[in-house]
Amino acid sequence: MQTKQSQLIKPEIETKIDGLMAQMTLLEKAGQLTQLGPSIVGGFDFNAFMENPDPEMFKNAQLDFHEDWIGKGEVGAYLGVQGLDEINRLQKIAVEQSRLGIPLLFGLDVIHGYRTIFPIPLAEACSWEPELARKTAEVAAREASAAGLHWTFAPMVDIARDARWGRIAEGAGEDPYLGSAFAAARVRGFQGDDLSDPQHVAACAKHYIGYGGAVAGRDYNTVEMALQTLQDIYLPPFAAAAEAGVLTFMSGFNDLNGVPTSANRYTLTEILRGQLGFNGFVVSDSNSIGELVAHGYAADRKDAGKKALLAGVDMDMVTKSLRFDIPELVEAGVLPLDVVDEAVRRILRVKFLLGLFERPYRSSAENEAANTLSAAHLELAREAARRAIVLLKNEGGILPLSQEKIRKIAVIGPLADSPFDMLGSWAFTGSPRDVVSILSGIKSATQAEVLYAPGCDINGKQPADFAQAIEAAMQAEVVIAVVGESARMSGEAASRLELGLPGHQESLLKALKETGKPLVVVLSNGRPLALPWVAQNADALLETWQLGVQAGPAVADVLFGAYNPSGKLVATVPYVVGQCPIYYNHPNTGRPSGDFWFTSRYIDGPFEPLYPFGFGLSYTTFAYADLEILPGAKKITVSATVTNTGTVMGEEVVQLYIRDVAASRVRPVRELKGFQKILLAPEQGQTVVFELEVASLGFHAEDMQYVVEPGQFKVWVGTNSAEGLEGEFQVR
Ligand code: BGC
Repeated sequence: MQTKQSQLIKPEIETKIDGLMAQMTLLEKAGQLTQLGPSIVGGFDFNAFMENPDPEMFKNAQLDFHEDWIGKGEVGAYLGVQGLDEINRLQKIAVEQSRLGIPLLFGLDVIHGYRTIFPIPLAEACSWEPELARKTAEVAAREASAAGLHWTFAPMVDIARDARWGRIAEGAGEDPYLGSAFAAARVRGFQGDDLSDPQHVAACAKHYIGYGGAVAGRDYNTVEMALQTLQDIYLPPFAAAAEAGVLTFMSGFNDLNGVPTSANRYTLTEILRGQLGFNGFVVSDSNSIGELVAHGYAADRKDAGKKALLAGVDMDMVTKSLRFDIPELVEAGVLPLDVVDEAVRRILRVKFLLGLFERPYRSSAENEAANTLSAAHLELAREAARRAIVLLKNEGGILPLSQEKIRKIAVIGPLADSPFDMLGSWAFTGSPRDVVSILSGIKSATQAEVLYAPGCDINGKQPADFAQAIEAAMQAEVVIAVVGESARMSGEAASRLELGLPGHQESLLKALKETGKPLVVVLSNGRPLALPWVAQNADALLETWQLGVQAGPAVADVLFGAYNPSGKLVATVPYVVGQCPIYYNHPNTGRPSGDFWFTSRYIDGPFEPLYPFGFGLSYTTFAYADLEILPGAKKITVSATVTNTGTVMGEEVVQLYIRDVAASRVRPVRELKGFQKILLAPEQGQTVVFELEVASLGFHAEDMQYVVEPGQFKVWVGTNSAEGLEGEFQVR
């Protein structure tokens, strides 16, 4: 069967690669396997930069591109080079001055937009609309390629079950089924249908693999998991990316069961090249080859490079181990030339597929101007942002706010007017100047008078000043408090020990509550936050994550009812940090959590999450009825009728979960196997039909074979992972 991966092998391209490789010296081959980043020279203080990320500081840093290597054909790719002129200048050296004229590949982290910054990936996934993610990835690719780039280090498809881990922001949450749908959609968006189309870029499925399972949610930490869990939970989104034709993978920083993933032959060769039939190339994560030494897996840089390459890494991001050490290793007979050749072939294949040999310069200044921050891109940013918002509470239908009745609104909180923080992590190509803050969004959407006071800063570094905020609240008819995390508090190397509101923010909310005014809490953050007091005391609670350049208009659309919220959580929201990791698709214990003392629970707090996976409210209500199950040998048809029982038009994400009741390994209490987002007018009903493939109901057994075991299955169709109409069927 022709798969997208097998289609990457084109005889005419492979012949061209043979021709080139026949002429290449060992050093030129090593060069192709080398990705350089502009090394920062001159004492750049990274810690100071992370504390206060001032772009000026970065601009002024002295960069070294090792330009002299390019003309000698000793560099294959760059990361982090920005600016069309600079990219084209370096490309010209490669194409015109190097002996074989092999073009360079320029990659950058274009994670959720290039200039038009979209919601962080976690937020976007809350739309449960993979097609939306395809569109935003396509626009990101258009803007990035217009700026000269060929390759993005996205999508991140790591499953994340622990909100302490800051990189939960970068993926699609905790579920393998939903995560697979988003992985495939994002790959399709970045790469398009025609790989050589200069308006698209190569995608990169990262971080392969298990990275999100870091023990204690601490970034880069060790990962231990059963290989069945690896196959059933963590691998599916990577497999989906491969099936969608992704051209590159990135190996991770973490070790997996004791073997670092950047030198793991089982995952990189047996699973990736073997099981998934991957024909693109693997780039290591930044310096992860060099870090094999710190892991205690390699004796020195040379040993590290050898181990990574032998395991199945093809390109070395920034360590330079391959360039420096390959020739010697091959000449000494400890590294087979075949291994080097396979990696070179894979990299050249991607360069040919991208059409770089015919068109090494991706873009021009006119093209860049025409394709950056266009009105259509901003329109999509607003659409994506409002679809990412999750309504968690709406006591007494306080939202949407009535434009007729409300004359004065108090907008309070440190994130209300904080453009930079709306961008979230990995948005350095964006600019806070392009962001419409939540405060501005609200002001433009209403005739009411808007009183504003921040009340405190985000992290409690400055003394709080509640007085003005309370004064504003007292004058207003409703308080909108915008609180949460700064952009820097999630993303890479941003694990947290606490999942509450940082600094004085919760005290601010408590003081606002004391005024007795209706309190609408708008959260802006990069991970699920454990906020039981807020959930209990806010009149309305909106989770808006980090929504990108159109944060303000999108939040205002929801607050005033121009858009009826339809987002659903893609990560369980814990009640308290001590519950982490917490996820809906856990196996049962022999003593399932309950009221009885000797069950799997805590003595000092609840075992249930604050909000379950899949949860999200609307301004209307939906009723579920008439669950029907039609079993078949290959397919089970499950249907239910969903009716809009409220007074406004609204969208509902109808979710289907199953449970294999008794199996040869304990199975999750629920597993998502289908979802559909539907739009219903008041009183309108729709029968939603799911076709469940029996082949998709299995798991990896003790012997690591995938099996679908006969027996009883439960099925639920409902509005989130904790509710739904329940039925059952037999697999024979
Ligand atoms: C991150 C990757 C990223 C790479 C290049 C690393 O630190 O883990 O996700 O793609 O840097 O910027």
